[in-house]
Amino acid sequence: MKQYEALSVEIKDGIFWITLNRPEARNALDSTMLQEIDTAFAEAEENDDVKVVIVQGAGSKSFAAGADIKQLKSRKPLEALIPGMQSLYTKIENSKKVTIAAVSGYALGGGCELALACDIRIATKNAKFGLPELNLGIIPGAGGTQRLSRIIGKGRALDMILTGKIIAGEEAERIGLVTYFVSEDELIQKAESVASDILKKGPVAIQLAKFAVHKGYDIDEGTAMWIEKLSQAVVFGTEDKEEGTSAFIEKRKAEFQSK
Ligand code: HXC
Repeated sequence: MKQYEALSVEIKDGIFWITLNRPEARNALDSTMLQEIDTAFAEAEENDDVKVVIVQGAGSKSFAAGADIKQLKSRKPLEALIPGMQSLYTKIENSKKVTIAAVSGYALGGGCELALACDIRIATKNAKFGLPELNLGIIPGAGGTQRLSRIIGKGRALDMILTGKIIAGEEAERIGLVTYFVSEDELIQKAESVASDILKKGPVAIQLAKFAVHKGYDIDEGTAMWIEKLSQAVVFGTEDKEEGTSAFIEKRKAEFQSK
């Protein structure tokens, strides 16, 4: 395993845990942390034993309080065009691993956008989501203007972005920003149980189902249906399909072997 300064990273039972670890700065995403998140995802991507990546924040106060504002202050206009947080989060969305954000405390700005780039979001009562960038005279620039509206709808996204309001975990679940709302002490267990449900599935099917949903979402339905069909054609040729269908017929649990 690589060495990390701003993250703690652990692999356990097919799950790659990434803990954002700058609690003294509410896990604000500075350049070191962003570089390390990129490295950690690359490490997870290369590891065939890993199927799920769970991202969480160290300490219960914050998942991540956004981009590091002290670094952001000196950014020049053209620096916004350099691949940065937005490209990193798109890479995360495109990862072949399933990604889960386990959110306790603040998920603001780039922290909220990191959670939005994950496939599944779990929040506690103490979670607080918001895109307060307009308070700083900037806009959400790590996918927030696009992913938030796709997840919760344009009207609610505009309200959150334009007012900068911060919503709690329960409200986030009500409007579909998160999938699961749990108590503080259930967060890890819930993340593990969602991951464990996913880990039982055919590995190739996991990847292609994720791919079909993400890639099909922003294109016309006819083309998206072809993505689904072609993905199905791929899984029809796998050992996983043979094993999954045989296991059902033989009334036993499937033991998928593919990586
Ligand atoms: C740098 C941060 C920080 C941030 C907190 N800190 N958030 N440092 N960047 N985003 C630091 C504080 O400066 C302080 O450091 C320490 O963490 C504790 O913060 P407090 O404010 O004292 O804590 P608390 O009262 O608990 O309030 C927590 C908070 C607040 C609500 C999260 O810190 C806050 O509003 N932070 C900014 C949130 C934000 O605006 N995020 C969007 C960033 S822009 P010291 O040294 O004083 O102890 C963004 C753009 C993304 O994300 C897109 C770019 C392409």
